[in-house]
Amino acid sequence: MEPGNRARVEAWLRYGSDLGLGPYYRDRIVPETAVMAAPGAAVESLDQPSQAMAAAAGQTDAGSTLAFSQPPASPAASVSSRSAPAGSLAQEPSLFEASDRIEGDTLDLIRETIGDCTRCKLHKGRTNIVFGVGSMKAQLVFVGEGPGRDEDIKGEPFVGRAGKLLTQMIEAMGLRREDVYICNVVKCRPPENRLPEKDEITTCSPFLFRQIDVIRPKVICCLGSCASQTLLQTTQGISRFRGEWFDFRGSKLIATYHPAYLLRNPNAKGEVWKDLQKVMAVLGLQPKRK
Ligand code: URA
Repeated sequence: MEPGNRARVEAWLRYGSDLGLGPYYRDRIVPETAVMAAPGAAVESLDQPSQAMAAAAGQTDAGSTLAFSQPPASPAASVSSRSAPAGSLAQEPSLFEASDRIEGDTLDLIRETIGDCTRCKLHKGRTNIVFGVGSMKAQLVFVGEGPGRDEDIKGEPFVGRAGKLLTQMIEAMGLRREDVYICNVVKCRPPENRLPEKDEITTCSPFLFRQIDVIRPKVICCLGSCASQTLLQTTQGISRFRGEWFDFRGSKLIATYHPAYLLRNPNAKGEVWKDLQKVMAVLGLQPKRK
C-alpha cells in the first residue's frame, strides 16, 4: 500500500480502536481478561483492600519502597484463572508474525547488529548502550522505557531507584533478577530523562521485538506507558488497559505502572501488586515468604 494511504488507514483504525470499535487485527489492542477472579476466590475488592493488600500497597507505610518485599499472605494460587475466549490469547504466532521472525537470531547477534549505534540522536548523549540483562530462557520479560542516568553509566537496565523497586517487585514474586529478562524500548538514555521520542522509538524498537522473539517468554510485563503503547501500538493511556491480558506474538502481555511512577505514587503499589499476582498465577509462582 502507498505509505500515505497506509498512514491514513492506520490513523482511522486507531481512531476506531480508541472509540472501542474493532479490534481489526491481532497485534492491535485486544482487551481480554485472561485471568479473572472466579466467584468466591480470595481476591481483594478495589473498594475494600485487606490489611495485607494495604501493606503491599505501602499504605501502612506511605513512601516506603520496601513494601514489595512484604507481599500479602494470600498465595497466588488463591487467584483462580479462567482462560479468555478461544483465539484472543493465541499461544502460537500467526503465519504473518512468524514470517517477521529472523531465523537463527540470538541475543548476541542482536547486540552485534546494534554495534556502536548512531541510528538516532540519542547516541550523542549516551555513555553506554543499555541492551538488556537476565536469562535468555526467561519466562518473564519486563520492558521499561529507556535508561536513566544510573543505567547509562552502568550499561545495565533498572539499576537506579526505580530499578531497586523493580528488583523488590521481582523478589516479592518469588523470583530473582537473574530469572527474568529486563530491557527497554530505547537502548540509549534520553537527555534529562525525557520520554523517548517517536523517531527514537521507531528506530530502536525493532531490536526490542527481536529480543522478545528470541526469548519467546510466556509473559511480557510492560512497565509504564511507553513500553505498553509501543508494544500494543496504541495511543491509549495505560490506565485504560492496565492489568488486562493481550497477545503479543505468541506471548501473553500485561501492562502495569512503571516503578518510577510508584516512587512518586506509593498508593498505586496495590494495583501493581494485583497485576503481578496475575502474572504469578500464569507462571505458577508463589510469593516470597518473609
Ligand atoms: N526506567 C526505565 O524505563 N528503564 C530503566 O532501565 C531505568 C529506569
